Amino acid sequence: MNIETLCVHSPNEDKNAHAYGAMTVPIFQTATFSHPGVGESTGYDYSRQSNPTRTELEDCISAMEGAYDTVATSTGMAACSLVLELFNAGDHIISQEDIYGGSTRLFNTLGIDRGRKFSYVDTTNPENVLNAINENTKAIFIETPSNPTMLVTDIREMAKIAKKHNLLLIVDNTFLSPYFQNPIKLGADIVIHSGTKYIAGHNDTLAGFICTANEELSEKIRFMYKTIGPSLSPFDSFLVLRGLKTLAVRMDRIQENALKIANFLKTNKKVTNVYYVGLPEHLGYEINKSQSRGFGGMIAFTTDTAKTARDAFEKIEIIKYAESLGGVESLITFPMIQTHADVPLEVREKLGITDTFLRLSVGIENVDDLIRDLERALA
Ligand SMILES: Cc1ncc(COP(=O)(O)O)c(C=O)c1O
Repeated sequence: MNIETLCVHSPNEDKNAHAYGAMTVPIFQTATFSHPGVGESTGYDYSRQSNPTRTELEDCISAMEGAYDTVATSTGMAACSLVLELFNAGDHIISQEDIYGGSTRLFNTLGIDRGRKFSYVDTTNPENVLNAINENTKAIFIETPSNPTMLVTDIREMAKIAKKHNLLLIVDNTFLSPYFQNPIKLGADIVIHSGTKYIAGHNDTLAGFICTANEELSEKIRFMYKTIGPSLSPFDSFLVLRGLKTLAVRMDRIQENALKIANFLKTNKKVTNVYYVGLPEHLGYEINKSQSRGFGGMIAFTTDTAKTARDAFEKIEIIKYAESLGGVESLITFPMIQTHADVPLEVREKLGITDTFLRLSVGIENVDDLIRDLERALA
């Protein structure tokens, strides 16, 4: 099945035919399941571990990502935290420098407190990753394109390095979603998603996913999942499945809008830089093109002064000033004081996440309305 069809139809539709021919999966709003007899199971025992509504969602994501298995978590951060539990005190992880601020906070607080070690490097240059490897290195963690500066890392190169040095390659694939990019097919071992974003798509549900490439990793993650319990509720599983059905059409529309907006921003006198991987002049354009089917809907840009940036947040009308991304509504974010406030100041400054740096998550509205809104806000 092609990816657009996988968004709409579960790969197990025949196997898991719903009662009465129901088109959509029922919400199995139950904590527990009765057993037919001692030592017997219907396949479901307790919803922390598994639930039929959630299974349908997990199977859909596995099929789209080309994963061996997927678990659905209550948030993207629950997914990141669970993956971190794969590592012990003394283990060293090489992380891309530019990642979501919540992941940086996780690594720099709970990660370090429990004795793990982190190196932050610019993974757009594989040499930096090679130079950071030591005898305790266990994993490489990347986002591509990265949040918020839109850096592109070569997934195949990272997979080669990971394989050669016996490391796990973990990719946060939130920004492009499984519709545009499938890191496991390029050699990644684990894919993480904030399902809150494009996958659910409506700014109404929190969710996360961990997709694993093989049985061994799946078993480890599933054991921790049932033991720690970051499970997505049946109702939220249903909402995410509902959102997933339109992922392809939303992503196509969002990308079409984003390209027009990026080109508009380039012409605006108060905009000094535009970072969108769909622009041929973007440094990561070719690599992104070689490893994905699209550029997505995330744009970062800088303004001439801090006042222009602040005024834009005040003047914007259709586009909402809010954290998060990937929904049908366009959102504008001030990473310095919102999503990346917990990133150390020197790192933020090095990456250019300053008081003139804005991040735009393009939605599905009429693009001319969005451009007019930005024109007014940046006047
Ligand atoms: C790239 C990325 N990964 C992970 C997360 C965390 O996801 P959640 O907010 O669903 O916990 C976010 C949130 O913004 C994100 O942007």
